[in-house]
Amino acid sequence: MLLKSIFAAAALMSAAFAAPSQEKRQSKLKWFGINESGAEFGEKNFTGVYGKEFIWYDFKAIDQSIAQGMNMFRLNFLMERLTPKTLTGAFDPAYLGNLTEQVKYITGKGKYAMIQPHNYGRFYGNIITDTAGFKTWWQNVAAIYKDNDLVVFDTNNEYHDMDQQLVFNLNQAAIDGVRAAGAKKQYITPEGNSWTGAWTWVSSGNGASLINLKDPENKLIYQMHQYLDTDGSGTSANCVSATIFKERLQAATKWLKDNKKQGVIGEFAAGNNAQCISALKDGLSYLQQNSDVWWGAIWWAAGPWWGDYIYNMEPSTANPAWTTILPAIKSYFV
Ligand SMILES: *[C@@H]1O[C@H](CO)[C@@H](O)[C@H](O)[C@H]1NC(C)=O
Ligand SMILES: *[C@@H]1O[C@H](CO)[C@@H](O)[C@H](O)[C@H]1NC(C)=O
Ligand SMILES: *[C@@H]1O[C@H](CO)[C@@H](O)[C@H](O)[C@H]1NC(C)=O
Repeated sequence: MLLKSIFAAAALMSAAFAAPSQEKRQSKLKWFGINESGAEFGEKNFTGVYGKEFIWYDFKAIDQSIAQGMNMFRLNFLMERLTPKTLTGAFDPAYLGNLTEQVKYITGKGKYAMIQPHNYGRFYGNIITDTAGFKTWWQNVAAIYKDNDLVVFDTNNEYHDMDQQLVFNLNQAAIDGVRAAGAKKQYITPEGNSWTGAWTWVSSGNGASLINLKDPENKLIYQMHQYLDTDGSGTSANCVSATIFKERLQAATKWLKDNKKQGVIGEFAAGNNAQCISALKDGLSYLQQNSDVWWGAIWWAAGPWWGDYIYNMEPSTANPAWTTILPAIKSYFV
């Protein structure tokens, strides 16, 4: 999303998990999650202070989301707060401590935790061009989580307005860094340019470029995002039509199938109204019918500080996404 800079969160649907090869034969979607958002808040203030500019996620809320069937939590955070000096510099122990505490809590419940630098391919506001430094950053981060198979590595949130070859190179550097750390069992989700939109995956050139990414462990799950408002930015409670979700997934689905790749919708959301809920069900049903290539979908967003945000799925009777949308869509996942 264009506004993403503002928030995120995590929660998910769970099921007893079989080995990946067996999961593929099931028609229900494997991953149902939520963006846990808040640790990247105050993005204009790279330093920030815990509890003032940014916040970590509420374990009780995560438990409630797990109880609803969620099994994937996409943990938003900022690279500048994890390695404040340089890409290759030391970790901030408190920020890393909080991230690791979240990962341990979620994976300790048998659910997936997605490590997601919410950086748009930028560091301190500048497009990252130091691919070797980016590889080192990922190698350092992955070394911490290399023995936890329930961790998923998301190379970066929503590259945009960047040279396509650079987006390819950064994704490849991230993959190489993760594997060089000895993290061999974990899934990695590359993201594309153009805000990694599913609807523009092929037309933007992401497909033709990122198809050439190489993972020696063959565990890439291409991550795309999709909103249902007119400009696809996820800033409106209105949906274009009751079939727009499915329509915006079709070209990417064909690309995944033609190229024998796997994908996940790492962000999706829509407003609390009849047309949007119809569109959500139609699109999730489509993902389910194509679960040979689609792993699931991750709602945007939850987190303690979202307030009356239109898509707020933090567990609370005050949040229509929690009280109305979640019950309408969760059956597609578990
Ligand atoms: C999910 O979180 C990211 C990080 O805050 C944000 O950029 C993105 O816009 C969020 N998605 C939505 C729909 O807000
Ligand atoms: C950035 O955050 C720090 C710590 O809370 C605060 O003292 C400072 O005023 C903030 N700066 C801006 C520009 O918001
Ligand atoms: C989380 O961050 C806070 C604030 O910096 C810090 O006091 C606390 O020790 C951190 N928690 C962990 C588990 O590292």
